[in-house]
Amino acid sequence: MSITAAITAIGHYLPEDRLTNQDLEKLVDTDDVWIRERTGIVERRLMKDGATSDMAIHAANEIVENMGIDPSEIELVIIATVTPDHVFPATANIVAAAIGADRAWGFDLEAACSGFLYALTVGAKFIEAGTHKKVLVIGSDKMSSIVDYTDRNTCVLFGDGCGAVLLEPSPDENGIIDQRLYSDGTGKKHLHMVAGGSRKPASHETVDNGEHFVYQEGRPVFKFAVTKMAEVCREIMQRNSLTGDDIAWLVPHQANKRIIDYCANSMNIGSEKVMMNIQRYGNTTTATIPLCLYDYREQLNKGDNLILASVGGGFTWGAVYVKWSI
Ligand code: UT7
Repeated sequence: MSITAAITAIGHYLPEDRLTNQDLEKLVDTDDVWIRERTGIVERRLMKDGATSDMAIHAANEIVENMGIDPSEIELVIIATVTPDHVFPATANIVAAAIGADRAWGFDLEAACSGFLYALTVGAKFIEAGTHKKVLVIGSDKMSSIVDYTDRNTCVLFGDGCGAVLLEPSPDENGIIDQRLYSDGTGKKHLHMVAGGSRKPASHETVDNGEHFVYQEGRPVFKFAVTKMAEVCREIMQRNSLTGDDIAWLVPHQANKRIIDYCANSMNIGSEKVMMNIQRYGNTTTATIPLCLYDYREQLNKGDNLILASVGGGFTWGAVYVKWSI
């Protein structure tokens, strides 16, 4: 008998400090109206002290406490992030140790803004294989650690945050039903970090040149994102014989409200069925999708058809079809 992986709990962490559009007006040549109209963002959260793992530990502990589970029952921890605490060891190892998941193995997964969907898919495979019964999948990013607050092209877009889910074998037919994931490395030139890796290790020069910050050419990324997110959503709908009416919620990566609106339109889904919190948190990279699930958790019903979708650096993109399990 085949096993389906189900999301059985959600946790989150958002730093207290807020960076509003008005705050940004004082830092760079921008204005509140431009940011709202071009992106949909009003404010974002910033973590002053601490690292990506600290947010992930909060989110994971929320799940452990709410579910009343013994952390040593967790067998695998996957953290999707572009802002790991260190190049090594993996942030997942740090988090597992901190929450008492002393029998877990784990690793970090890097697929930029599609990281959470990639990690969810990988985690689900270990449940489906029957080898694991409790897998923690976390999207956590301290984007403020790699954003240049003198660059108006990027600093208005990103925020810090974390969302986490627990995967377990489903007792029924609900769970993670299908996924389509893609990548295209030729997109690297439009969205990347220049230095800090083996191609260009950190040096005085790279720091002086600001090469450890996010570099993004907004327009080509926008064009790619708007096309591919809609395309992959339509593909997963077709594969599963779903119409817009069958879908309870679109759970899109929160990079730009205009990308989300276009995608929902092309799926024949009304805005009332689109999860949206970009106005409050900006783009938290790997955390956007689980933070949406967290914010809308009270409105979700068992059996609801959800389409999770993202596009990110790489390029990476994909969609996951979930029948809600809680
Ligand atoms: O999550 C990972 C994937 N990332 C994305 O999906 C992001 C995709 N890209 C976008 O969301 C949009 O391209 C942005 C929001 C980044 C930019 O919006 P846009 O409508 O594509 O603007 P643009 O880059 O074409 O720039 C239009 C104008 C330019 O001025 P000129 O050349 O027309 O005089 C920019 O210099 O807006 C200017 N501009 C700004 N003005 C005020 C760029 N950033 C700002 C700013 N405030 N912060």
